[in-house]
Amino acid sequence: MLVLPPNSGKLFPRVRTGIRIALLLVLYTPLRGIADDNPPQSEAARRGHAQFSQSCAFCHGANGAGTTEGPNLLRSGVVRHDQNGNLIAPVVRDGRPGKGMPAVHITDSQIADVVAFLHWRLDDADRATPADAHDSSLQHLLTGNADAGKAFFNGAGRCSHCHSPSGDLAGIATKYAPADLQARFLYPADVPKTASITTPSGAQVTGQLLYQDEFSIAVKDREGWYHSWASSEVKFQIQDPLVAHLELLHEYTPASVHDVFAYLETLK
Ligand code: HEC
Ligand code: HEC
Repeated sequence: MLVLPPNSGKLFPRVRTGIRIALLLVLYTPLRGIADDNPPQSEAARRGHAQFSQSCAFCHGANGAGTTEGPNLLRSGVVRHDQNGNLIAPVVRDGRPGKGMPAVHITDSQIADVVAFLHWRLDDADRATPADAHDSSLQHLLTGNADAGKAFFNGAGRCSHCHSPSGDLAGIATKYAPADLQARFLYPADVPKTASITTPSGAQVTGQLLYQDEFSIAVKDREGWYHSWASSEVKFQIQDPLVAHLELLHEYTPASVHDVFAYLETLK
């Protein structure tokens, strides 16, 4: 076990990409015009390509465009809204039990390479068929039906379990420009996960989860102390307040996204 004092948090700088910038990139990448040549493939993407061929292509197709065994990853909201593996890596690591997507046992750096490859593929595909990419453009988003969105909000979307149009979401459309609102709704700001650890001696430590993989787990406790353990040494439970949002990403159809977005836009 390792314990470090509060001011050593800098050892683990957290990089938060601006959501707005990321979204604008998603929306406007295809509008840069049709490129004269393909985007250059980074070293990581090159390695990821080989890894993808070996571990994923059987089901998702050599270029990620899907087969009868697995969906087209170029039309996947998970892939399109992924930032540095935050959405793709959990699917690869844990699979989708019962849905035909196995947990794929490759290392974190191999996953990072596959993620780099998928982003490169998406960029490449957007350039080749910009019309497809416009599916996610704002103009298209604003064509939803607000009444249907309200029904989704209170029904199948389960949004009303956690949100209220007269409470936390009151005035949300005034608070954010449409592009920001879309980003917040599909991928809310990083809300820290909490982990409760039971150490071998039976002691309990609860704190903000800083890091976790198959080998180690680290938290910052309420006093700001950093603790880490080998994952195999301890029992732990992780609470992620955004799990519902991530799960919803898999359930949305394009129509329900547009509808619920149109409804959110009425909350001025
Ligand atoms: C045995 C077939 C199979 C293999 C191998 C496989 N997948 Fe999948 N994958 C699937 C299926 C089927 C789904 C759809 C699961 C569902 O309906 O939720 C899926 C879903 C996904 C999704 C989520 C798509 C979305 O929008 O919900 C991602 C991302 C993904 N796979 C990436 C990968 C990567 C990367 C690899 C290789 C490291 C891989 N998969 C290997 C069958 C496979
Ligand atoms: C299980 C609880 C839960 C469910 C279900 C849920 N959300 Fe959220 N939502 C959260 C949490 C937690 C946050 C992050 C904290 C925050 O920003 O308010 C969040 C953030 C948001 C935000 C950003 C708010 C802001 O001020 O940045 C929007 C918009 C939003 N959710 C819309 C929805 C919609 C629409 C649905 C249904 C389709 C939904 N949520 C379903 C818990 C939930």
